[in-house]
Amino acid sequence: MTATKRIFSGVQPTGNLHLGNYLGAIRNWARLQADYECIYCVVDLHAITLPQDPQALRASTREVAASLIAAGIDPKGSIIFNQSQVTAHAELAWIFNCVAKLGWLNRMTQFKDKAGKNRETASAGLYVYPVLMAADILAYKATHVPVGEDQKQHLELTRDIAGSFNDAYGVDFFPLTEPLIFGEATRVMNLRDGTKKMSKSDESDYTRINLTDAPDLIAQKIRKARTDALPLPGVARDLVDRPEANNLIGIYAALADIDRDAVCAKFEGAQFAGFKNDLADLAIAKLSPITAEMRRLLDDVSHIDAVLRDGADRAQALAAPILREVQDIVGFLHP
Ligand code: TYM
Repeated sequence: MTATKRIFSGVQPTGNLHLGNYLGAIRNWARLQADYECIYCVVDLHAITLPQDPQALRASTREVAASLIAAGIDPKGSIIFNQSQVTAHAELAWIFNCVAKLGWLNRMTQFKDKAGKNRETASAGLYVYPVLMAADILAYKATHVPVGEDQKQHLELTRDIAGSFNDAYGVDFFPLTEPLIFGEATRVMNLRDGTKKMSKSDESDYTRINLTDAPDLIAQKIRKARTDALPLPGVARDLVDRPEANNLIGIYAALADIDRDAVCAKFEGAQFAGFKNDLADLAIAKLSPITAEMRRLLDDVSHIDAVLRDGADRAQALAAPILREVQDIVGFLHP
């Protein structure tokens, strides 16, 4: 395999995956397998930047791995593994911690969001979180990274780190990675507040659709989703200033694999109450097979563990020679 078109992406094992993770990232990951060599990682090192219960972390790591397979990622063709099994991530992250500038990290909006008001008590790991992301990607010299829109700033930092390393050591070693952000749902919003993104960490479960939700619950959440009083417009550009309407139409478009204009044309003038029934049917039709397959896979934990072990071995084989070269460039002695 050549390293000219290599994909890396990651997802945190911090609870259930939701529709945003699926439409913004994981569905695209599955589709990209046709054209790229793909490495998909369950990022447990990132998860512990916030407190995690060890038992729950293990369970969630397996659940997320099962969702990736259920969503169509082939663990034989692609690599699926959990981050902590391959030590190159943490080792390269340290080297990058010595390349990244405090000023760059101070600009990261996700740290500000996650640390909240009480920054003094946030972990140092949360602060250098994006440096570990750069290490994840560059440990494999990945050229493309499919993500949702919220990760864009982190990927810009990855390019800065790669460029800065190359300059500092006078080498052309790391590629400048391209983000792949595509589809009608690159930023799926909270069902109760169209100005906030759908997130695992929101207190109310009614703000998101989880990949583990039963059909009745999916329908109920969609019916209760906030909308405005106007009917659906005939063209998508009229959704400006209607964040909730725009979100539901975007979700429909992504699930149906059409664009927002096609959804507007189909439902022009309809009330949201009726549209929501169609959206619920569509969401259930698309998500239920994934949920069922995920549950089936989780009945055999030893199979999931075998996939993660095999993935880690293959990932390690790719990362080890790259890390070795980095160590030589930096001047570490291996007597
Ligand atoms: P995480 O676990 O928060 O999310 C996994 C993927 O889902 C996307 N996503 C969304 N897309 C659309 N709408 C939403 N509401 C939404 N919420 C989440 C994310 O953009 C992401 O692609 N830091 C990363 C994990 C990571 C990583 C990496 C990603 C670690 N190392 C290296 C790429 C490359 C994260 O926390 O994703």
